[in-house]
Amino acid sequence: RRDDAQAPPPEDFLKKYEVEDGSDTVLTSDVGGPMGDQRSLRAGQRGPTLLEDFIFRQKLQHFDHERVPERVVHARGAGAHGTFTSYGDFSNLTSASFLSAEGKKTPVFVRFSTVAGSRGSADTARDVHGFATRFYTDEGNLDIVGNNIPVFFIQDAIQFPDLVHSVKPSPDNEIPQAATAHDSAWDFFSSQPSTMHTLFWAMAGFGIPRSYRHMDGFGVHTFRFVTDDGSTKLIKWHWKTMQGKASLVWEEAQAMAGKNADAHRQDLFDAIASGNFPSWELSVQVVDEDRALAFGFDLLDPTKFIPEEFAPLQKLGIMTLDTNPRNYFAETEQVAFQPGHIVRGVDFTEDPLLQGRLYSYLDTQLNRHGSPNFEQLPINMPHVAIHNNNRDGLGQTFIHTNPIHYQPNSLNNNFPAQANQTTNRGFFTAPSRTASGNLVRELSSTFDDHWSQPRLFFNSLTPVEQQFLINAIRFEASHVKSETVRRNVLTQLNRVSNDVARRVAEALGMEAPAPDETFYHNNVTQGISIFNNTLPTI
Ligand code: HEM
Repeated sequence: RRDDAQAPPPEDFLKKYEVEDGSDTVLTSDVGGPMGDQRSLRAGQRGPTLLEDFIFRQKLQHFDHERVPERVVHARGAGAHGTFTSYGDFSNLTSASFLSAEGKKTPVFVRFSTVAGSRGSADTARDVHGFATRFYTDEGNLDIVGNNIPVFFIQDAIQFPDLVHSVKPSPDNEIPQAATAHDSAWDFFSSQPSTMHTLFWAMAGFGIPRSYRHMDGFGVHTFRFVTDDGSTKLIKWHWKTMQGKASLVWEEAQAMAGKNADAHRQDLFDAIASGNFPSWELSVQVVDEDRALAFGFDLLDPTKFIPEEFAPLQKLGIMTLDTNPRNYFAETEQVAFQPGHIVRGVDFTEDPLLQGRLYSYLDTQLNRHGSPNFEQLPINMPHVAIHNNNRDGLGQTFIHTNPIHYQPNSLNNNFPAQANQTTNRGFFTAPSRTASGNLVRELSSTFDDHWSQPRLFFNSLTPVEQQFLINAIRFEASHVKSETVRRNVLTQLNRVSNDVARRVAEALGMEAPAPDETFYHNNVTQGISIFNNTLPTI
């Protein structure tokens, strides 16, 4: 029964899909007939192969179609299964069921990744790293599709293709580190100053983590928690590694790329295979709805983080990864994370980057999987029964037996019934949310300050870490051929810090820029600075 298939035991929900080719099995065709011959059928021993040979055709045809498109970004990754355990009952914060009781366990699947490289690229290339987690909760799938850096390059989703085109391999020769690729990436960064903050993190150790096990993770955007009574809070997701955060230094990362391009996926796989299970604590920063502008920047702006002094981390639970995928394609490749996969108790915000992501993942996964039924793939199936009126389509695996597949209906007493808040498991969208306004394309001026938080970040590093960051920018910028781009890079760096700009200029043999005092104010929105004492306490 399919209902049963949809609610497998959490311990091993993929078991029933396993195919074992044991010692007592014989080779069969795709339709089950035993096959004795692994040679193609020919007219005469030295003659042509016959079209009639369906065994040959089936085998070659299947092989010819083995590849699916790699992810347009985050193509290179590694995954693992595990369990999330809630530290308590957090129903005061959210009605999300996986956080409803101390000790409550929820199966998870995590995929770590780099962003820009292709599926076969080296693990230790300097990059932002993906940290995507799926919770198979008892009220459906929740995905936190995050990164190991708490901020992002751009503020508006419409710029994502531009960002990615500028950092992907050069279109003429497909060389990732080609001089043109350096020029295009740094051209974009220096023309689009919202990138400065994430760029600084990526140029520091965060761009070259020691392993996936040693990374933290962040949801980046502000989300909402919603309680059963409909009240909401703004939240930011945080994963803290229990292995200790650690990075490589650039020379190590380069050497590792040559010695073992699979170093990170192997580290994760070997650690789990040897029983050395990595874990991460999940926390949230919680902020009242009316304080979205209280910290000197806009909580809807994904290029900003909330310093923990202003909103401490509240621990929610711990995740341990203890099981390796048994088939990379079926699990790590076919998993389809989406920021739009939310459960009751979690809601979106109006962050314009998040809003665009809600469209992009579903769209790209239709392309990647070729079918609107990709949520029925074993790794994507929620661990609860699915009842709706979505029907048919390529790759449909359900056999819907009820002829009434529309709503409203009287022939099936209007079932499946619509869930409502009081009787069965509530709403997705927080009832208090409203939207109105003139149609505009400009972002709010509360998104304007691109330089204060990278300055804050740089100043928070030790002198040695600062030197590593500067060395990374020197390395990157020294590969940029265009004089104009180099100058633009110095201009933007100088807006963050004259110290950084001077030290980079020195290595590039360029004139050091004079301090650009107009930019050395603190991050101010609505007259409140995050760096002085006017900040209200929370
Ligand atoms: C993967 C788009 C921003 C984290 C992807 C994919 C697309 C995409 C198309 C491939 C998905 C797939 O084939 O399954 C976008 C767009 C963005 C954006 C349009 C901004 C407008 C972000 C941000 C984060 C992020 C801000 C982090 C918070 C990830 C991760 C993956 C991913 C972790 C890999 C998921 C996996 O392991 O399968 N993104 N992305 N992305 N994105 Fe984004």
